[in-house]
Amino acid sequence: METKTFRTTEAEIRQAAALLQAGDTVAFPTETVYGLGANALDPQAVDKIFQAKGRPSDNPLIVHIAHRESVDKLVRGPLPDAAVACMDRFWPGPLTLVLPCSDRIPSNVTAGLDTVGIRMPDHETALALIDAAGVPLAAPSANRSGRPSPTTAAHVLEDLSGKIAGVVDGGAAGVGVESTVLDLSGEVPLILRPGGVTQEMIKEVLPRVEFDPALLTGSGKPKSPGVKYTHYAPRGEMYVVEGPNSERVIRQLVDNARKEGRKTGVLTTSERVYAYDADAVVPVGTRENLPSVAAGLYDAIRRFDHLGAEVIFAESFPETGVGVAIMNRLRKAAGQRVIRAD
Ligand code: TXA
Ligand code: MG
Repeated sequence: METKTFRTTEAEIRQAAALLQAGDTVAFPTETVYGLGANALDPQAVDKIFQAKGRPSDNPLIVHIAHRESVDKLVRGPLPDAAVACMDRFWPGPLTLVLPCSDRIPSNVTAGLDTVGIRMPDHETALALIDAAGVPLAAPSANRSGRPSPTTAAHVLEDLSGKIAGVVDGGAAGVGVESTVLDLSGEVPLILRPGGVTQEMIKEVLPRVEFDPALLTGSGKPKSPGVKYTHYAPRGEMYVVEGPNSERVIRQLVDNARKEGRKTGVLTTSERVYAYDADAVVPVGTRENLPSVAAGLYDAIRRFDHLGAEVIFAESFPETGVGVAIMNRLRKAAGQRVIRAD
């Protein structure tokens, strides 16, 4: 299949929407990462998403909408007050709400769960495409399963060219890490995946919000099926180096790896770009501004592949605000391989 690239003009968005209406898959930009969309009410179209990504069928998809009213047909029963409060505060925006699902939603969207994740992206092109398609769009991140999420149309094509009908090229996604997944189907609001909307922000409307315990301990069964898979990984072997002496320890690790003849990479920020003598030193944003690190994180991880790094050492970041999501993704990209540098 030839994957067609669309620009963000009204006419080309309409063409992309026609593909979606015909039951095909089209990738599109959101404020977090690029999504791979299909008509959420058409199980065959949804199946094409799983095929193209190579995604395990037990991992549910987020349904994207352009208008608040669209929620009513997707959820079962009346909306909880907590959901209304979150929509008022954070939509459109990087917050996915998990709610009891209506029986209109095909079971491959929810992976057979009795809940559905819904969000309204804060991105003009995404909203225009959903509107033009006239249906809610099921859309996971538009990467091959296990790879870093795409933040540009080029990333999407790197993974999925020839496997999807089209991609709408809207430039780089802004936030850079995926939406926060917030489960409102139980008694206590639970963050199943940290993301662009932080726990501190949610606390302002839902004071009782907690993290899914399995996220914090790394043990037990996470409530969000996707969280258990290896994810975001570069091709090289990645390690996250945590602790006050990370700079010195990374320099040592690089030296040792080079002596073994391995091609080395270091993930750092603009502040320390000259501190390392590795084969590939990739800076991402600045320490003074964690959102800038989030925005460039996946592009940086993909860059190590292009540079052929075989072993990669990543600096770590304070776990406040969006730093929680950054460290969650880094540790996953590293397959939880963490080196302490105290
Ligand atoms: O920012 C985002 O959320 C992006 C853009 C495209 O919207 N999408 C995204 O989708 O990251 P995906 O499929 O890569 O990640 C969805 C996550 C997975 O961890 C999945 O398990 C979880 O959300 N999820 C979806 N529906 C769920 C449900 N009903 N219950 C629990 N977790 C759910
Ligand atoms: Mg994903």
